[in-house]
Amino acid sequence: MGARLARLSALNVAERPQTRDDVKAIVEERDIRFIRFWFTDVLGQLKSFSINKAELDDAFEGGMGFDGSSITGFNAIEESDMIAMPDAATFAVLPWRPESQGVARMFCDILTPSGEPYEGDPRYILRRALARAEAMGFDAFNVGPELEYFYFKSARPTDGIPEVLDEGGYFDLTTLDAGSDVRRETVLALEQLGIHVEYTHHEVGPSQHEIDMRYAPALKMADDTMTYRITVKEYAMKYGWHATFMPKPLFGKNGSGMHTHQSLFKGGRNAFYDPDDQYFLSETGKAFIAGQLKHAREISSIFAQWVNSYKRLVPGYEAPVYVAWSRRNRSALVRVPLYHPGKEKATRMELRCPDPACNPYLTFAVLLQAGLEGIEKGYELPEPMEKNLYHLAPDERHRLGIEQLPATLGEAIELTAESELALRTLGEHTFNRFVEIKRQEWDDYRVQVTPWELDRYMSIL
Ligand SMILES: Nc1ncnc2c1ncn2[C@@H]1O[C@H](COP(=O)(O)OP(=O)(O)OP(=O)(O)O)[C@@H](O)[C@H]1O
Ligand SMILES: [Mg+2]
Repeated sequence: MGARLARLSALNVAERPQTRDDVKAIVEERDIRFIRFWFTDVLGQLKSFSINKAELDDAFEGGMGFDGSSITGFNAIEESDMIAMPDAATFAVLPWRPESQGVARMFCDILTPSGEPYEGDPRYILRRALARAEAMGFDAFNVGPELEYFYFKSARPTDGIPEVLDEGGYFDLTTLDAGSDVRRETVLALEQLGIHVEYTHHEVGPSQHEIDMRYAPALKMADDTMTYRITVKEYAMKYGWHATFMPKPLFGKNGSGMHTHQSLFKGGRNAFYDPDDQYFLSETGKAFIAGQLKHAREISSIFAQWVNSYKRLVPGYEAPVYVAWSRRNRSALVRVPLYHPGKEKATRMELRCPDPACNPYLTFAVLLQAGLEGIEKGYELPEPMEKNLYHLAPDERHRLGIEQLPATLGEAIELTAESELALRTLGEHTFNRFVEIKRQEWDDYRVQVTPWELDRYMSIL
């Protein structure tokens, strides 16, 4: 086995193949037969087609053509030729596929037939936001999302209620945590896929879990978030269960959130850090937070994009709905975890309202753009809110100028439709498609006659 191959096969989690030659070497070394080309549609659904290893050279040369007209949010049939250009740095062998004649995957950038980036490609929309950060002198937008999810006995609820595996709670263990084995296998698989897992635990809800990835630059983390979701689902299926990132599958129980920790680095240093500030937060960090608070309502339909997302974003259940920031207080939209002396690198802000069913590319892009807007325009950061905002009376909140996130997808999408920031971030094509799709989803839901209505009205009206 050549020295380079030995180095490549023994690569630890952090280092992955960088060049096309690295990829070709591993394909030979690991007896890979098929390579899956992964990308997402506008809603963040993973799309994939497989190529035979013999096509790899051509694919790296000119990409692989495909019909984009059946991809949600992409071009209509009359201009549907698209090109999937594989990104060699995202190459990884799929641990749940056979060892021999194995299967690997690469994320792709979507191009037009003339080789231009396709404006409807969520990965390109994130790249565009990152280019703005770079133009402002930042060299990294680091993101650490905490995705929560549920395991259920099956995808089809019995009598309308999904069946949980256990009645465990936060950090519960042994008999109360039926998921520990499947979670263990999932973590090992994520590490083989180049994702650094920091820790994992049972969450507050019954059958609810969390695996924490170490933060990474936004583009890699968006890819990793897609990989995380499909890996969790693959191993749940292996155990005969169903894993879901649905924000609120159980009425009256905690929903699944995706707290998103964020920071900007400049010259390898954490640009959010200021040792002389009472909160150890730099002016840049404060303006970034002010940007996300100011634009939170108009971008809500992107980080919480489903009708069901707003069944989670209700006061209580640890879900943040009030537009404020704080150090300790988990009822605010933004939390700045307490600074540990000497831990400059860990200085960050945590936005608590996104949910794990969002499109991570569009979400990280619009969060970055909102933060950069605050920096570029010098937004003022209001005082932190250390009170429990759930206990404040509505007029008290009003007096303090604390706004609330939209209460439904219907309200959220109309705010986005008026948002200049969302239009600039998504670009005209994706903006129009997204607004159209979400208005339709809300209309489809709004006209439903629900069991709740029948229970409440049928007998009395
Ligand atoms: N500078 C940074 N920039 C972005 N993310 C960071 C940075 N430093 C740490 N992180 C990430 O922040 C996340 C912290 O997760 P952790 O679970 O500790 O947060 P928490 O909000 O305190 O926990 P919980 O919500 O479960 O109470 C991890 O993904 C970690 O990698
Ligand atoms: Mg958190």
